[in-house]
Amino acid sequence: MATKQRPFHLVVFGASGFTGQFVTEEVAREQMDPEGSSRLAWAVAGRCREKLQRVLERAAEKLGRPTLPTEVGIIICDISNPASLDEMAKQATIVLNCVGPYRFYGEPVVKACVENGTSCIDISGEPHVL
Ligand SMILES: NC(=O)c1ccc[n+]([C@@H]2O[C@H](COP(=O)([O-])OP(=O)(O)OC[C@H]3O[C@@H](n4cnc5c(N)ncnc54)[C@H](OP(=O)(O)O)[C@@H]3O)[C@@H](O)[C@H]2O)c1
Repeated sequence: MATKQRPFHLVVFGASGFTGQFVTEEVAREQMDPEGSSRLAWAVAGRCREKLQRVLERAAEKLGRPTLPTEVGIIICDISNPASLDEMAKQATIVLNCVGPYRFYGEPVVKACVENGTSCIDISGEPHVL
């Protein structure tokens, strides 16, 4: 659950990527209530605000939900900046990490989540990372 300390139940990190865009669209579809609003407080995260904004706009258009971009938070976060990973992890109950390849980018995200008590899920199919 989202709490005062953790405003987002779920954060999709890497939402601007090929896979992240599908994940974002599915999250938007799955947690929509019958009135068409978001049931959960959630956010997308990545290193470029404009790209994240465009992903939300595209999902909104596809799903016929014009209010989606205003309902979903945006967190600016870069793998090369550990403080930004901590900030993201602190705001979420669950980070769904779509930033790959995980052999290069996976570990700092897991570290930030472990150190901040956040659950972490990824979509890795890389055997040595698993
Ligand atoms: N299990 C499966 O079946 C399956 C299927 C597909 C993919 N995957 C996994 O998913 C991973 C991603 O695949 P993809 O095709 O979606 O890749 P992609 O299109 O290249 O997307 C990569 C994402 O990572 C972000 N990123 C890269 N460097 C970053 C950094 N320093 N800080 C923050 N974000 C950064 C990119 O942000 P920008 O947009 O800002 O560049 C983009 O959002 C793959 O490596 C693979 O391991 C698994």
